[in-house]
Amino acid sequence: MDTKKTAIVTGAANGIGEAAARLFAKRGYRVAIMDVVDRVHAVRDEILASGGECASWSADASNESDVKAFVGGVMERYGRIDVLNNNAGIVIVKPLDETTWEDYRRVVDVNLGGIFLFCKYVLPVMKAQRSGTIVNMGSVSGHVGQTDHAIYGATKGAIIAFTRAVAWEVAPYGIRVNSVSPGSVDTPMLRSDIALESERTGKSFDEVKRIREAEQAFNRWADPAEIAEAICYLAGEGASFITGSDLLVDCGWVAK
Ligand SMILES: NC(=O)c1ccc[n+]([C@@H]2O[C@H](COP(=O)([O-])OP(=O)(O)OC[C@H]3O[C@@H](n4cnc5c(N)ncnc54)[C@H](O)[C@@H]3O)[C@@H](O)[C@H]2O)c1
Repeated sequence: MDTKKTAIVTGAANGIGEAAARLFAKRGYRVAIMDVVDRVHAVRDEILASGGECASWSADASNESDVKAFVGGVMERYGRIDVLNNNAGIVIVKPLDETTWEDYRRVVDVNLGGIFLFCKYVLPVMKAQRSGTIVNMGSVSGHVGQTDHAIYGATKGAIIAFTRAVAWEVAPYGIRVNSVSPGSVDTPMLRSDIALESERTGKSFDEVKRIREAEQAFNRWADPAEIAEAICYLAGEGASFITGSDLLVDCGWVAK
């Protein structure tokens, strides 16, 4: 019997999602990846070249028909879904009074709406299997106040609350639901965030980078692979008694 597990990773073209997709593949999962940018297909090719099993889709996590078609495509190809890792996300870095309604809608639609849609369409599959694990992407921004990140932080706080509620809702089916809240991780998102902050404050990129590194006790940013380890741990058998939790992977930021 084929016992390979299938993991969905959203937002897998870059950063944390890409690292998680690579690690799931390395650990023997079949990986179904999606993103709005075409680089997702290059990530698939690299995973295939290194001996992993992977299929990729171009899709928008905030578009209901895209998500429904993607989940249908994964089921057609692999026949089951064991892990859902919701990574797709965007950030806006702006004072609240300069934030437009469109900015607000886009961040809420992608960060929270995307996770809602993926859970909505994947959970019926996991309920029928009576197994599965979901790992959502929170952030320290859901725990501490960050200047110019009010709407982003609000979506991350909401994701942590959503995770807790869904964990209780689906526990009777043997499904676990958790989130990971990273500190600063060296990805294209963080670098664009730092560039915007540098523009706004007149400080150099390196100066802002040093300030943001000091928020971590080891005075450095995480590598995306370090966050992928936490995602794979929560998704795996070793975390069998963990549900409804948020795992801070922030090198002490929130503990200070
Ligand atoms: N980098 C950090 O410091 C940090 C810290 C805490 C939390 N996070 C969270 O981790 C997750 C991944 O962030 P990252 O830093 O790797 O960012 P990233 O920008 O490097 O990667 C995010 C990926 O999501 C994709 N994406 C964006 N909108 C999408 C949509 N509508 N549908 C499908 N894909 C979409 C992007 O194209 C990109 O490939 C995000 O949810 C982010 O909020 C990041």
